[in-house]
Amino acid sequence: MMIRHSLSFRFRDDVPEEVRVAVLAELATFPERYSTMRDWSLGRNISTRDSTFTHCMSMAFETNDELVAYLSSESHERFVRETWRPVIDHQAIVSYEYTERPGVAARKASEVSHHTRDRAPYGMEYARTEVPDLQATIDFLQYHVGLQLEAHTDQYAYLRADIEHHSIELISAPHRENGLTTAIGYSVENDDVLARLHKKVVEAGHEVLELQERQKSFCDNGFAIRDPNGLIVELFTEFQEYAEPPHLEIRPVDLVHPFIATTKYQESLDFYTKVLNFLPSDHIVGSTTFLRCEDRYHHSLALQNNKEHYVAHLCFAMKSLDHVMRMRARALYKGAPIASDIVNHSASTSIAFYLHDPKFGPRFELCDRHRVFTPEEHETHRARKMPADPRNIDVWRPAADDWGRF
Ligand SMILES: [Fe+2]
Repeated sequence: MMIRHSLSFRFRDDVPEEVRVAVLAELATFPERYSTMRDWSLGRNISTRDSTFTHCMSMAFETNDELVAYLSSESHERFVRETWRPVIDHQAIVSYEYTERPGVAARKASEVSHHTRDRAPYGMEYARTEVPDLQATIDFLQYHVGLQLEAHTDQYAYLRADIEHHSIELISAPHRENGLTTAIGYSVENDDVLARLHKKVVEAGHEVLELQERQKSFCDNGFAIRDPNGLIVELFTEFQEYAEPPHLEIRPVDLVHPFIATTKYQESLDFYTKVLNFLPSDHIVGSTTFLRCEDRYHHSLALQNNKEHYVAHLCFAMKSLDHVMRMRARALYKGAPIASDIVNHSASTSIAFYLHDPKFGPRFELCDRHRVFTPEEHETHRARKMPADPRNIDVWRPAADDWGRF
């Protein structure tokens, strides 16, 4: 509830213009003088229906006590006694309680939090994965995920989904049996936000690392850190981009998030939310937290409480559900392993399936309709606490005990 206080008044006819101007100017200092005063306004009466009063002043307070404190303050009492009463012919005072309309309240909250909260990184750009067979992995990502190969040597390869420089960097690691994701990269809106994140990282006692040597040439400024699991997180500004997306009809439009299984769930949650300012979007209680960045995807990172640490999947957004289904058809046709077939995620509203061949790294989730918050929701969304029930992961599950097939 709020309190609105309005004062309609008429100057006495014999009050000279310069005195009126001085009194109105003093009223205009009230919002600075009384810190609890909100939404102050003052204007000349322009009504053609009723000219009883020459002016009206209006203001709001969060509580009636604040209004009373203002009215009974020594400075206000003196103003009324010495300045006001001698020049006013008559007046009408109305104070009333009201509830702000939800849209207005949310917009104000949005403005406030937008200006006061610490900014998170903008969004996920790439993952770096070491793989035993570089060429086989490239072939898999081209055909089954729809990425375009942009550069490659015997040692590494870059593949992209859309205009951003790359979304997957592969490193040749013939000694490995399976692929291993070692780093994730996030763009940051500008150097100011980057500097603030750097400061928080240092204050929290984390070691600041240099960006990978090649990555330095694809961005303006940046640094890297290890998360509590040892996963490298690279943060940078001005990630380079191409003028055109790949000329491929069926391809992802964005790399959305990594899903990180961790043995240090709470520590990781604290790291990403308190040091890097990620915002919790939803919790599957005791199991998973979805965290978002400034690009407003429902989640640009997910943390799962697990007995092992590994990057469990990387999620790509396709252009449409049709394209998700066409990629699923390719997987069925080639016998590529589908780790989890078509699911409808409750928290993020995305529809997806998961490919998984451990030789090529984590699962690849291909999805459509991943929720993007509006700017207002981004500032005001309250993270839900959802019970660990399969229907809170896939709304197409029929019952609480249907945990198979994930
Ligand atoms: Fe996911």
